[in-house]
Amino acid sequence: MKSTHSAVTDIFQDVEPRQSSFGVAILNKERFVDALEKCNSIEDFPSLKDNITAIRKIISLPKNDSEGLLNIDSNGDTISLRKDVLISELNQILDSQTIGRAKYYLKRLEDGIKRVKTSKINDINLHRWKEYDDIITDSLWVMDKRDSSGAHLGWYWGNFIPQIPHQMMVRYTKKGDWVLDAFVGSGTTLIECRRLGRNGIGKL
Ligand SMILES: C[S@@+](CC[C@H](N)C(=O)[O-])C[C@H]1O[C@@H](n2cnc3c(N)ncnc32)[C@H](O)[C@@H]1O
Repeated sequence: MKSTHSAVTDIFQDVEPRQSSFGVAILNKERFVDALEKCNSIEDFPSLKDNITAIRKIISLPKNDSEGLLNIDSNGDTISLRKDVLISELNQILDSQTIGRAKYYLKRLEDGIKRVKTSKINDINLHRWKEYDDIITDSLWVMDKRDSSGAHLGWYWGNFIPQIPHQMMVRYTKKGDWVLDAFVGSGTTLIECRRLGRNGIGKL
């Protein structure tokens, strides 16, 4: 028998955040950090570049993984990075004009892998800000259509596009924070709260 479809049921099923549409490289964290540290200890610029080129080759063509960077240990830490961003960071190191600049970029990449850096106001990892393709830094008015995925049924004529509360919460709240929408209407904000792991309360 077909079950009764209701917005309320959908709200509780649809709790997963959106997935990035970009390719991801999953790496053995320890070995990757070791490989970067090894590069950082090299004083000869051409040989540093050779090492970075070798890492880039492994990332783009996993069959060349002689270093075991992509070998995941069952009890080891992994790091998942957006592939296009990682390749562009490696290219930036390779395009550096001086060894000092190359090491600066190298250190920045290493820091982003070793540590998470957040601020008091949100959960954005400031070391890896380039990977947040879902954060829109332009005007929200340029959005061509509303997000109608999952529980967003758009039945209420007075609703706003889900991207508005989504963007506000990603930028100005942390997971587990409480969010009050005093003008909740059809509950767009509450749906986005569920998706982003925020506690939402609203007044109709
Ligand atoms: C435009 S709707 C909000 C729509 C909501 N953002 C959504 O996406 O569904 C405004 C809501 O605020 C409520 N509202 C308007 N004036 C209010 C007031 N003075 N006090 C409390 N609620 C009010 C309305 O009942 C309505 O639910």
